Amino acid sequence: MSDEPTVKEKIHWMRKLREQAKLGGGKERIEKQHKQGKMTARERINLLLDSESFVEQDPFVLHRCSDLGMAERKILGDGVVTGYGTINGRLVFVFSHDFTVFGGSLGEMFAKKVCKLMDLAMKTGAPIIGINDSGGARIQEGVASLGGYGDIFFKNVVASGVIPQISVIMGPCAGGAVYSPAMTDFIIMVKDTSHMFITGPEVIKTVLGQEVSFEELGGASVHMQTSGVCHFMAENEGQSIELTKELLSYLPSNNLEAPPLKKLGDDPNRIDHALEEVVPDDPDKPYDIKEIIVSVIDNGEFLEVQPLWAPNIVVGFARLNGRSVGIVANQPKSFAGTLDVRSSAKAARFIRFCDAFNIPIITFEDVPGFLPGIDQEHGGIIRHGSKLLFAYCEATVPKITVIIRKAYGGAYDVMGSKHSGADINYAWPSAEIAVMGPAGAINIIFRKDLAKAKDQEKRKAELTAEYRKKFANPYIAAEKGYIDDVIDPSHTRPRLISALEMLVTKREPRPPKKHSNIPL
Ligand code: HXC
Repeated sequence: MSDEPTVKEKIHWMRKLREQAKLGGGKERIEKQHKQGKMTARERINLLLDSESFVEQDPFVLHRCSDLGMAERKILGDGVVTGYGTINGRLVFVFSHDFTVFGGSLGEMFAKKVCKLMDLAMKTGAPIIGINDSGGARIQEGVASLGGYGDIFFKNVVASGVIPQISVIMGPCAGGAVYSPAMTDFIIMVKDTSHMFITGPEVIKTVLGQEVSFEELGGASVHMQTSGVCHFMAENEGQSIELTKELLSYLPSNNLEAPPLKKLGDDPNRIDHALEEVVPDDPDKPYDIKEIIVSVIDNGEFLEVQPLWAPNIVVGFARLNGRSVGIVANQPKSFAGTLDVRSSAKAARFIRFCDAFNIPIITFEDVPGFLPGIDQEHGGIIRHGSKLLFAYCEATVPKITVIIRKAYGGAYDVMGSKHSGADINYAWPSAEIAVMGPAGAINIIFRKDLAKAKDQEKRKAELTAEYRKKFANPYIAAEKGYIDDVIDPSHTRPRLISALEMLVTKREPRPPKKHSNIPL
């Protein structure tokens, strides 16, 4: 009899190793993870993907580090679970950091696993989802882990605009490691348990003497409301996974495909007379632009992106007769719907995403202009505002704009005007399209006349009424063909759907170039 193991024994050994790999850093660390209200890397993947669809890759990978006692500490899979599966039947690739293995820290082989997956995702044209829960660069592996991050960053950039990349943050994400998620298309964070920062509270205390908690520095709420880093905030891990699936349902698998068609049974010819009541008679009174969005789109289902950051502009995904669209809308309820540094950057990034992935852009416009102020000027409103203008002009997907009320000044040109290459431009009868609002205009062009007037207030009121009658309407723009039609508000949905379907085959070639130079 030979001492060599039999084939059966070899198979048994392989199965044993596989089971061992599934335990990651061991039962104790898994329990610790659960006690903190966190799922394990595998549990997260199982919840994300269609049942039984996950196919793991590289479960036998081990690190090659022997410094600082690492030679004796090798764990199958090396701290990241990678593979592919389906979400609602569509192929996706997923990697999930395993915090139970060296705190999910990234070393050379860990990074190689992620890069291999990114290559496959790009070659097959399928989205990649990264679930982040990591202490960052694996200290013991030194520069090899920095190199690993660098390789991932490079691939993030190559994949950008080719396949959707989504990052779900479910634990720590610190140091330079934040830049991989930051270069993906969307970041979803979980309240209380996820944190992102470049330098942590300890460093801040040492260098600046400032005390700040993890949550105050880089929690989900901060990145949702203050920094604009986070696109969606979830109450818990389960909800973050639901959000990921919902987001993917609007997106094509790659830049060469159209987004999936999903009919929700909403009548494309549905009209809504309630829309006639939304815009107040007083042009200075705010209203909620979301009332219009929700009324017009299929079943009122709107996935708002960055809802708490720069709320003066609303962006998000919806469907019109089953087709995915990106909505961009000024919000009169917040800063009167003015464009400022933040709202310009927010909408520009969203428009560029939609354009990269063949998602038509629908704009609802009610903008009195750019927000005036020293803060804005010194904060670079020229640079940031031009991002939005640039993004609109650059986008070649179907672009349809509806002017609801104000379209004043440069903001008229910026917000999906005919001049910025929009295909169809409609206005409601309540639209006011002019160089500026009546108050500003009167003060400039009738300054001398007003100064001479006996009753200045009365004269001002007369001139304002005259200006409003002459300029604050959609018909001068319609006369010039800048507006294709003045439409009945109640018919907005059927008009948009008809325009969108007419534009389905739109092609708009531009001169070949290496890439444009958007003002950053
Ligand atoms: C190696 C690490 C690690 C790391 C954590 N661990 N971070 N091992 N390299 N970067 C290990 C711990 O030693 C511990 O191992 C286990 O993971 C769990 O860590 P704990 O500290 O016990 O967990 P917790 O209290 O929950 O704290 C988690 C943490 C903390 C906040 C992430 O571990 C931490 O601050 N880690 C360092 C974070 C950091 O500064 N990373 C470098 C960022 S710079 P045992 O065996 O005890 O269970 C960076 C540069 C990237 O990433 C640059 C790219 C260009």
